[in-house]
Parts: sequence; structure tokens; C-alpha cells
Amino acid sequence: MPGILYQLVVAAAICALSSGSIAVASGLNATDSFLVCLVGAGVPPRLLQTPASPSYSTTLLSSVRNLRYVTSDIQRPVAIVAATEPAHAQAAVRCGRRHGVRVRARSGGHDYEGLSYASLDPGERFAVLDLAAFRDVRVDSARAEAWAGSGATLGEVYYAVAAASRVLAFPAGICPTVGVGGHLSGGGFGTLMRRYGLAADNVIDAVLVDADGRLLNRTTMGEDLFWAIRGGGGESFGVVLSWKLRLVRVPETVTVFTVRRSINQSASHLITKWQAIAPALPSDLILRVAVRSQHARFEALFLGRCSRLLEHMRVHFPDLGVTQSDCEEISWIQSTVYFAFYSSSKPLELLLDRSGETPRYVKAKSDYVQEPIPRHVWERTWSWLEKPEAGLLILDPYGGRMGSISPSATPFPHRKGNLYNLQYYSYWFENGTAALEKRMSWVRGLYEEMEPYVSKNPRTGYVNYRDLDLGTNELEDNVTSYARARIWGEKYFKGNFERLAAVKAMADPNDFFRNEQSIPPLPAAKGWGSI
Ligand SMILES: Cc1cc2nc3c(=O)[nH]c(=O)nc-3n(C[C@H](O)[C@H](O)[C@H](O)COP(=O)(O)OP(=O)(O)OC[C@H]3O[C@@H](n4cnc5c(N)ncnc54)[C@H](O)[C@@H]3O)c2cc1C
Ligand SMILES: *[C@@H]1O[C@H](CO)[C@@H](O)[C@H](O)[C@H]1NC(C)=O
Ligand SMILES: *[C@@H]1O[C@H](CO)[C@@H](O)[C@H](O)[C@H]1NC(C)=O
Ligand SMILES: *[C@@H]1O[C@H](CO)[C@@H](O)[C@H](O)[C@H]1NC(C)=O
Ligand SMILES: *[C@@H]1O[C@H](CO)[C@@H](O)[C@H](O)[C@H]1NC(C)=O
Ligand SMILES: *[C@@H]1O[C@H](CO)[C@@H](O)[C@H](O)[C@H]1NC(C)=O
Repeated sequence: MPGILYQLVVAAAICALSSGSIAVASGLNATDSFLVCLVGAGVPPRLLQTPASPSYSTTLLSSVRNLRYVTSDIQRPVAIVAATEPAHAQAAVRCGRRHGVRVRARSGGHDYEGLSYASLDPGERFAVLDLAAFRDVRVDSARAEAWAGSGATLGEVYYAVAAASRVLAFPAGICPTVGVGGHLSGGGFGTLMRRYGLAADNVIDAVLVDADGRLLNRTTMGEDLFWAIRGGGGESFGVVLSWKLRLVRVPETVTVFTVRRSINQSASHLITKWQAIAPALPSDLILRVAVRSQHARFEALFLGRCSRLLEHMRVHFPDLGVTQSDCEEISWIQSTVYFAFYSSSKPLELLLDRSGETPRYVKAKSDYVQEPIPRHVWERTWSWLEKPEAGLLILDPYGGRMGSISPSATPFPHRKGNLYNLQYYSYWFENGTAALEKRMSWVRGLYEEMEPYVSKNPRTGYVNYRDLDLGTNELEDNVTSYARARIWGEKYFKGNFERLAAVKAMADPNDFFRNEQSIPPLPAAKGWGSI
């Protein structure tokens, strides 16, 4: 046990004996007082780490997915609280409020802008509340429901669901190491979305620690707060400890294929046609595209057999030229391995590997496309994709169930009228400003070039593809400025942003849960109709 923690335990014991509440021991700074408070509240010291602890860096880096936020000039947490019980998370919030230490929840650590473990404000004192230990997944296959801890990864959820039933699934994202905590907080889409909607659309209850440190469920938090936490983005409303999921039906056998078409195999023509075709396909079929270098890779999941899939492709997209030999008939759980690791024969246990891919630098941006982008634009795009510093484009088609859910049913507003989500994604391994600047300007440059062809007023994006270029918060009278936050907020949430801010004003009026893109409390003067 590091020396400071030993002293803290002693101090906490004394405090607890003397008063029953943890008064600030004289001579302790805010961080130490916070730690004393936690220990006094029953958090075992071994779950607390400070920069002085030998394992601090290892723990901090354990789920960092973007090395851009691992630099000396970025503010690190004053402590990591590796909670193992709800009471620890409640204590983190209560002690944090009392002693001026903010709390950033971290589930899978995949935030594109590192917001679960780093702060851009050099003056901010915050602790990471690490939820990796909250990863139980309990499946009730008879009711087609499951409870999943926020620290579970998508891979762990998929694995547990498939272990309980061959005909149940959960509709969420593709990367198995993504955490359920952040993913469901921001929406969550993947290969089943055209049939079943977002992950957040299939959440039916949740356990949340609110800004007063209370443990709430759907009934006790109320429908407004329950609405906000299913898509309003992580961090703003409290810490979700677990989610109750509605599982969905899949056939025992599904079909996948991947076909690659290069520039000289009409890739531009195929992408151009794809834009109108893919969003209109039957909802039990998804055909997504990744475009990089000199080719487009078309990847499909069909909830049925190959023969029927080929019929659909012949009717809707004969130009793609998919044949029987492209098909693989597998189980749904194998399809999750297929999309994550490009092979259906790899072991399912890969889904349980939390360590994930080699650490890398990442920058991404996103758009929604509402009218097909003209072919000449795609032809021009190859000159971007062929550059040495190029990243890739990922096109995820909506339509189906995504288009039939009301844009105000959850905070996620990108429903009817959106053909597809267009993601600009770059990753690299070299450290240094030269590589950083080249990669960043590639992503930003192509994004700028696409502006005439994507959604407008506002130009929208997906909150789970966090992009701080869209704007960051500023304070006004010690709370996050609503006027300023609208700049980025309406891009992610459109008309739902004001309602999110109204819920925030109700649930966390003092703005304890705050980060660079957290929802601001709606100023009282503005009011909001139904709340
Ligand atoms: C490689 C990769 C692939 C991806 N693929 C997809 C995809 O297919 N589909 C898709 O929709 N998205 C995808 N994403 C985006 C992903 O959904 C988001 O990054 C998501 O927010 C990550 O959740 P997390 O728990 O891993 O992240 P974290 O970094 O832990 O959290 C993200 C944000 O939520 C907050 N938060 C975390 N846990 C909680 C909690 N329990 N309660 C309240 N707030 C919390 C954090 O403070 C932070 O602000 C991908 C991201 C990566 C890096
Ligand atoms: C708080 O005090 C401890 C010593 O008790 C010290 O290690 C730590 O750096 C201080 N933190 C801050 C933020 O001043
Ligand atoms: C990259 O280099 C910077 C500056 O030398 C350093 O602070 C940072 O820790 C390095 N990052 C990694 C991941 O090695
Ligand atoms: C929610 O919490 C309340 C109070 O603790 C409890 O009575 C109720 O049964 C819970 N609801 C559900 C669905 O678990
Ligand atoms: C098409 O281009 C690829 C490289 O982009 C090349 O390998 C292939 O031989 C070309 N095919 C034809 C038919 O020209
Ligand atoms: C803002 O909050 C900080 C700490 O939370 C406090 O020290 C400061 O006095 C507050 N300022 C105002 C104007 O309320």
C-alpha cells in the first residue's frame, strides 16, 4: 500500500471514530480529503490509486484506446477509483462533490477524444471512476432480457447472450472491446440496427448513480432522466452501473459476405449506386462499405440463408455481382467475430479479450448523408484515399427500423431521411507532431471537402464518434454555458438538445458531471414545456 494511502486509512479511521462523518482533516489538500472521504465511506484503499501509486499508469492505460490523449501536457486524473460495488461509485460522487474532485466515468475507454480519462483543462481536478469490474452479464433467455454491467464489453455481452440461446442476440456495435457504458449512453449502432434499431433503443431499465450519489432505477429516476441516458452521451447525467437489455430474435443460421471492388472494377459506380440501394434494402439485410486506398469493401449480414440473400442481391444490386461462393452461412455469434476479425473461423473466445488491438493514435469525424453524393465526387475522393497519410471511410446504411423510430423517442435524432452515416477514420502508430498534423489535416481536409454533399443546418454528427472540432464547452457563472454548448450540441442532437439540457437542469443543476462536451443545464429563464 503506498505510504499516502496508509496515512489516509489512519486519518479516515480517526475521522470515522471521532465524528461518524469524514470531516476534512487539517493539512490535507482536496485530493487527499477526497481519498480520506472514500476510505471513510468504506472503499478499500487497494481500489484507490494516485499518481504516486506504482500501478497508476498501468491502470490508467489499461483501456486507453487513443494515444493522442497520452501526453504530458494533458491533465491526468488525481486518482483512479476502481469501484467493485455500487457503494463505491456512490462514494466517489458524494466525496467528489464534497471535496471539489470531479468524476469521469470510464467503462470501455473507447471515447474518440479520451474524455473518460483525460481533461483538456489543465486546472481540472478529477478522478476516473473505472467501471471495468462491473461486467457481469446475466441473461434471462425465457424473457429475452439481460442485465449487463456498464464495464462489460460488447464482446462479453454477445458471448453471454449466445451462450444462453442460439436464437437471441443484442443489436449493438461492431468492435468487441467497446464498453457498454459509453456505447449505450450515446446510441450504439451495428449490423442489426436496420432490423432492431440502436442498442439504446433496446434498453428497458438501468441502475444509475445520480449527482447526489443516490442509486436509482427506471422507476425512481423517472422517464425524463431515463430518456436522456439512452443516447444523450456519456457523463452528463450520472454514472450508469448497469443496463437491462431487451434481447432480439435471430435465426440459428445467418449469412455474411465480403466483396472487394477496386477502382478498376467500378468501385466509384458501385459506391454511387449503393447510396440509394443499401438504405432501402429489406431490414433483415445490412450492406455496409469501407472505402480505403484503391477499393471499396462491401460487407453484408443477412438474417437468413444464402439462397435468399442472393435473390435480394439479384433484385436490388445486380451490379455488385455477389455469387454463392461469396456467402458464408454461420451463427449470429460467429458473425460478430467475422465483422470484428474478418474471419468466421476464429474462436468465439476472442470476444472476451478485453485488451484489443495494438494501441494507436486515432482521429475520426462523422456526417449524415441525406442525398446520394454524385459519382464525380467519389471519383475525386480516390486522390485523398491514395495519399500516404490517408485513413478510411466507413459507410453505415440506415433505413429499416432506424427510419421508423421517431427522432424524439430517444436523444439520438438521426432517423428518417438519413441514408447513411459517413465516418472519416484515421489511425496511426508513429508518435510525434509531424505524423499527428498530417493525419489530422487529412481527416479535417476531406471532411471540409464533403461539406456540400452532407446534412446541413446543422451539419450533423454522431455523438459516439466524438469530435471536439465541433466545439467544446465554456463556463458561465460556474456552470457550462448553454449558449456555447448549443454550437456542438445541436449537431449531435438537433431538436433534442434543449430537452437534454432541461433534464440536466433537473438532474444535475450544479453541473457536477461535466466534460468538454457534456450537456449544460438549461438556464432557468428558458424553461422547457413538458418538464
Ligand atoms: C475501435 C472502435 C470501434 C467503434 N465501433 C462502433 C460501432 O460499431 N458502433 C458505434 O455506435 N460506435 C462505435 N464506436 C464508438 C463507441 O460507441 C464510443 O466510443 C463509446 O462511447 C465507447 O464507450 P466506452 O464505454 O468504451 O468508452 P468510455 O471512453 O469509457 O466512455 C465514453 C464516454 O461515456 C462516459 N461514460 C462511460 N461509462 C459511463 C457510464 N457507465 N455512465 C455514464 N457515462 C459513462 C465517459 O465518461 C465518456 O464521456 C467505436 C469506437 C472505437 C474506438
Ligand atoms: C496533495 O498532497 C499530497 C501529499 O499529501 C501530494 O502528494 C499531492 O501532490 C498534493 N496534490 C495536489 C493536487 O496538490
Ligand atoms: C509521445 O511523445 C510525447 C513527447 O515526447 C510524450 O509526452 C508522450 O508520452 C509520447 N506518447 C507515447 C504514447 O509514447
Ligand atoms: C426500483 O427501485 C425501487 C426502490 O428501490 C424498487 O421498489 C423497485 O422494485 C425497483 N424497480 C425495478 C424494476 O427493479
Ligand atoms: C486493378 O487494380 C489493382 C490494384 O489496384 C490491381 O492489382 C489489379 O491487377 C487491377 N485489375 C485489373 C483488371 O486491371
Ligand atoms: C466556482 O466554483 C469554484 C469551485 O467549484 C469556486 O471556488 C468559485 O468560487 C466559484 N465561482 C463562482 C463565481 O461561483
